[in-house]
Amino acid sequence: MQKERIKKIGICADHGGFELKEKMITFLKNNHFEPIDFGAKTLNNADDYPDFVIPLAKAVAVKEVYRAIAICGSGVGACIAANKVSGVRAALITDHFSAHQGVEDDDMNLICLGGRVTGYTSAEELVLSFLNAKFIGAERHVRRLQKIKDLEQ
Ligand code: RB5
Repeated sequence: MQKERIKKIGICADHGGFELKEKMITFLKNNHFEPIDFGAKTLNNADDYPDFVIPLAKAVAVKEVYRAIAICGSGVGACIAANKVSGVRAALITDHFSAHQGVEDDDMNLICLGGRVTGYTSAEELVLSFLNAKFIGAERHVRRLQKIKDLEQ
């Protein structure tokens, strides 16, 4: 049997999500993923989430990382910024069903979390559910995604 390659997972946060990002990096390592930290590397209350989210989103769009996690205070700004990058399908996730169904039906490749909203344990469960989910790829899913892709041309 072929051994599965360790998946690279991009992760970033501004000051609103910094603490959760640090915890998630340890969590990813403990769960046999390879976290790639796109910053912030230190806590700076004056930093701006687009400075971290846009490079992260570009990395997932070109498949430099398998999937990605973007964290800001609410998760809202991170989600808005990430979805501006072609090829990124990002969503702000707060419940378990959406964490996996967003991948299964919509091929979500970037999860956004609110560091001031979602607790550590919930965030861990949401992230694991997101990372372990697979796109089903049914004709109806592909057709819907194509309608979104058409906008990106
Ligand atoms: C930063 O204070 C905060 O506005 C940001 O982290 C985020 O919540 C934006 O959506």
